[in-house]
Amino acid sequence: MKRIIVAIDGLSSCGKSTLAKGLAKSLHYAYLDTGAMYRAVTLYFIDNQVDYNDPAAVEDALKHIEIHFERVEGQNRTFLNGVDVERKIREMRVSEHVSPVSTISAVRRAMVMQQQAMGARRSLVADGRDIGTVVFPDAELKIFLTADADVRTSRRHLELAAKGIDAEWDEIKKNLEERDRIDSNRADSPLRKADDAVVIDNTLLSEEQQLEKALALASDRMKV
Ligand code: DC
Repeated sequence: MKRIIVAIDGLSSCGKSTLAKGLAKSLHYAYLDTGAMYRAVTLYFIDNQVDYNDPAAVEDALKHIEIHFERVEGQNRTFLNGVDVERKIREMRVSEHVSPVSTISAVRRAMVMQQQAMGARRSLVADGRDIGTVVFPDAELKIFLTADADVRTSRRHLELAAKGIDAEWDEIKKNLEERDRIDSNRADSPLRKADDAVVIDNTLLSEEQQLEKALALASDRMKV
């Protein structure tokens, strides 16, 4: 079996992390949540009042940011400067700023470097917006996920409620659409389908059905 990289890209809340985690578990691969990294940077900027429109302040702040992942009780957790921020980075105050922060080239350069290092030995499933186009353009399997906006909003609503984070349905939908707009139109690494990506629309698919489709694709690419 060949060790591969699976790159999953797509709009906000279309089930990328659910699919990526399912694939990583089935294949016994590592999972890389690149969105969590942009969220952790954003949290740092908010908590430390870093003006992200000031390039010098951003450059300086990036020197003080260390992000890593740990498995805690079977779950992937994001650590910012040694502190578990997994719950905080999902809050709406972070969601509201993460897309503008993600347009900053200095931030992207720093994150992409770390992401590529984590994929050096392959056997990795990564999800985000630029994985198949910029981070791992040579990934053996690229998936571009899509789903209807209302379905995505409902899923996000449920996901936040399960984490005990309170947010209105309309507020979530507006945030998803705004992030999709910024993420798809930014100058540096906009969200787009890689030419060689397989599109999966999961609007009408269950988690099991989308995983089954992706696993079939992965096992095909793992053949030597
Ligand atoms: O996947 P997510 O919703 O947690 O990602 C949060 C934001 O981070 C998303 O709106 C855009 C940005 N992002 C990015 O620019 N590039 C990535 N590879 C992953 C996320």
